[in-house]
Amino acid sequence: MAKCIAATADVTQFDNAIIGEGSLVEPDVTAGFRYHQDCGPTSIGKNAILRKGTLIYGDVHIGDYFQSGHYAVIRAFVRAGDYCTVCNHSCIEGGTRMGNAVRLMSGTYIPTRTWIGDHVFIGPRVTFLNGHKPGRVRIPPRGPTIEDEVMIGGGSLILPGITIGRRSFIAAGAVVTKDIPPRSLVKGIPGRIEPLPEELDCDMDLEFMIQPVDLWHPEATLSSSPFWPDDWPEHWQRPPSGQSPASASYPLGDGE
Ligand SMILES: CC(C)(COP(=O)(O)OP(=O)(O)OC[C@H]1O[C@@H](n2cnc3c(N)ncnc32)[C@H](O)[C@@H]1OP(=O)(O)O)[C@@H](O)C(=O)NCCC(=O)NCCS
Repeated sequence: MAKCIAATADVTQFDNAIIGEGSLVEPDVTAGFRYHQDCGPTSIGKNAILRKGTLIYGDVHIGDYFQSGHYAVIRAFVRAGDYCTVCNHSCIEGGTRMGNAVRLMSGTYIPTRTWIGDHVFIGPRVTFLNGHKPGRVRIPPRGPTIEDEVMIGGGSLILPGITIGRRSFIAAGAVVTKDIPPRSLVKGIPGRIEPLPEELDCDMDLEFMIQPVDLWHPEATLSSSPFWPDDWPEHWQRPPSGQSPASASYPLGDGE
């Protein structure tokens, strides 16, 4: 049974989901949603964090240390390994496979029949597609296949059925229209393929990918320092003493 600490509210009593020990469940979370009368249960491993607004269907199986952001939606028949993160407003349609330590940043869209390997980073607002000529030519949908250690930059678009080879790096905003050999750098529209520069040909930083106690975890050390670049004036960091943030008057127009 999940526990409830610090910033979390009542634990929802899920009747179609088993959530592992050490998990934190915020209010307004649905896990094991019965989308069909015959749907099966959902299981999520130990030490998960399910953020307010998360919706997870029945027939989903996820490993340990899973984290969901606000209003993340995960439909049925999703399988994910350990240490996966699905950030705010991301949507994983059913029938998707993710390995271990997959990190989906906010607003990503993953359609059915997508296969994602281990240690994959998917930047904000990345869109995968699975229908080649929808509404015009009937062919079975097929999402992309993303091999291990791939990094996909923010806002990229990955066309149906594409395979992105191991350790490739997709630049922000690229449109990937053909299979990408392992260890490639892809930039632009349509994505141009270059060999991966030496600087990017290294193991994924797993500490960055996993972050079991992330910035917003109730057990994290609360400090303003991660937010404020050193070259911003100190007075922007917090309201003047005695004022609440709502009533604070900040110096303006002095170019500081
Ligand atoms: C591709 C990338 C790694 C290049 O970084 P870099 O090696 O430091 O490259 P530079 O900024 O020196 O730019 C080199 C050239 O590539 C171009 N370029 C850089 N990023 C590009 C991109 N995303 N798409 C197209 N061209 C790009 C630059 O315009 C420059 O072209 P020029 O030589 O004609 O002037 C980086 O720009 C990028 O896209 N990173 C992904 C960021 C991201 O999505 N993060 C997600 C988490 S927040």
